[in-house]
Amino acid sequence: MMKNPETDFLVINDLKLYYRIGNIECYPPGEDSLLLNKHIKYYCKDKKVLDMGCGTGIQGLEAYKYTKNVTFSDIDGDCLKISKINFYINYIKNFNPYELLDIIDKIKFPVDFILSDLFSKINEKFDVILFNPPYLPGYEEDERLDRWVCGREDGREIIDKFLNDLKYHLNKNGIALLVISSYNKPKELIKDYSKLYKIEIIDKASFYFEEIFLLKIKPISYI
Ligand SMILES: C[S@@+](CC[C@H](N)C(=O)[O-])C[C@H]1O[C@@H](n2cnc3c(N)ncnc32)[C@H](O)[C@@H]1O
Repeated sequence: MMKNPETDFLVINDLKLYYRIGNIECYPPGEDSLLLNKHIKYYCKDKKVLDMGCGTGIQGLEAYKYTKNVTFSDIDGDCLKISKINFYINYIKNFNPYELLDIIDKIKFPVDFILSDLFSKINEKFDVILFNPPYLPGYEEDERLDRWVCGREDGREIIDKFLNDLKYHLNKNGIALLVISSYNKPKELIKDYSKLYKIEIIDKASFYFEEIFLLKIKPISYI
């Protein structure tokens, strides 16, 4: 008998994005996700793309409209499972997501899904790397929420690790699009990395408590 699925989803740019399926969950797309999402068509067409920290897969699924060369990665196995289900439902066959839960890891996909702490399991280079990282200062008691949104002091723990390795994973002329917040002190961050990268703010959004920025990051020299 078909169980009644407890699910939650959003529809963004015609993509159906589940963020809760039964008892597994991932980061529900927010304003930060959308700030990055609206630039994907321009930057990702015909490129080799990595959606780092994919969550629902919102960024990579949008990129897949414009290039078939997309890789999804996340440190959180549940996020990766949900992004696979979202890929299946949007690009293979509309299906009951709850029924896909048990079989999704056995299905072969035309794209890669990689469980990885940042670049630790990523052995390739890309033209465009998309990352909406955990950037809030401090930590959350809830381990899962902490992994999705928190970056310790100044919120920069994950951002700094990402930027230290990024240059090794970009093809010539490759770029990263990275979301950060006013909490991460953008001016300081851009200065800290000025020897390694040319960093431009290409978009931003303001809220009463913070601003979020979209950075375009290009290595000064390619490796
Ligand atoms: C703010 S959410 C963004 C999710 C999605 N990309 C979006 O834009 O809605 C951050 C994501 O990064 C993942 N993440 C956190 N630390 C990570 C790490 N060290 N390596 C890879 N992914 C990580 C989290 O599991 C979460 O899915």
